[in-house]
Amino acid sequence: MKIGIASDHGGFELKEILIEYLKETGKSITDFGCFSSKSVDYPDYARKLCTEIVSGTVSKGILICGTGIGMSIAANRYKGIRATLANDLFSAIMSRRHNDSNVLVLGGRIIGKDLAIEILNKWLKEPFEGGRHVRRLNKIDDPRGSE
Ligand code: RB5
Repeated sequence: MKIGIASDHGGFELKEILIEYLKETGKSITDFGCFSSKSVDYPDYARKLCTEIVSGTVSKGILICGTGIGMSIAANRYKGIRATLANDLFSAIMSRRHNDSNVLVLGGRIIGKDLAIEILNKWLKEPFEGGRHVRRLNKIDDPRGSE
């Protein structure tokens, strides 16, 4: 599984930490920037990652900004992207089980390194439950779907 990662300046430091961790654990990771703590615009980096997921170049992604809010809003504009802000373990687990999250969003100015790594590990391992959740996810892509 190929994992992509991107951040703005607010998430840069945490992005570097997670990249190092993922490499140490033998994961294949593509870094879509940013590449320093110089101020940038988060929608540009959400786009870089999300277009690669939509085209299938990478299968899952991680986005990080200061709070995770801007990246979540931007990423969820791309059809097929299910970006879930999870600055706690329960949200990370449920975002996989019920929402089949394909982009984990983190707030670099909210959580510390150890919690971020634990959240990432849970999110990478947790399977989607399927069943009734498939119907619900389909309704997001086709909001005219029946009640
Ligand atoms: C950048 O200062 C900050 O606004 C951004 O990282 C993010 O938190 C936006 O939601």
